[in-house]
Amino acid sequence: MAKLKVGVLISGRGSNMAALIAAAKAADYPAEVAVVVSNVAGAPGLKIAQDAGIATVAIPHKGFPDRETFDRAVSAELEKHGVGLVALAGFMRIQSPWFPAHWKDRIINIHPSLLPYHPGSNAYKQAYEEGVRVSGCTAHFVTEQLDQGPVILQDVFHIRVGEDTLDDIKARGKELEAKVLSQAVQLYVNDQLVVKDKKVIFRPGHLQG
Ligand code: GRF
Repeated sequence: MAKLKVGVLISGRGSNMAALIAAAKAADYPAEVAVVVSNVAGAPGLKIAQDAGIATVAIPHKGFPDRETFDRAVSAELEKHGVGLVALAGFMRIQSPWFPAHWKDRIINIHPSLLPYHPGSNAYKQAYEEGVRVSGCTAHFVTEQLDQGPVILQDVFHIRVGEDTLDDIKARGKELEAKVLSQAVQLYVNDQLVVKDKKVIFRPGHLQG
């Protein structure tokens, strides 16, 4: 069966993107990464995607008069590659309301905290500075409200307060993020998620295998 084409938006290293590309290599994974778009021309993740034989496009946001014009250009590029699902994987650009409306229920973000805790940027730093003993990551559908869309999956890790450094926390979190994003995409493509009353409901049989 044909795999669903995923478009990944990045701004930096693209470690979550790389994990998705690796997961998608498996014959039984239901999605493939069709294109990677970055708003930062020199994003290291673009090179990783190119080396994996994936189409990449850099669209620096600075050349656009406003957010929506930029978002429409990104969207046109995704559509050109036949994308059916968008994954935000470290895309550090606030989008206009147009983008999540256009891709409603077809856009997933991976966020480095247990939302609703620690929304926004530097989430692992927030967790570290607060001295919490548990943190994690969240895959969620993207809506107009930043980091507030329906949660698909979360996973947790423990923090040894006073022992773990911020780098330890980031490393543990990133490992989890890679797994959670790939699982969320898989659930979506296998049609196991339904968004109802702003919540994700799982169809029976989720997370099999
Ligand atoms: C990740 O921690 C992701 O959760 C957040 O930004 C970071 C990007 O890392 N949204 P990378 O570019 O995937 O390595």
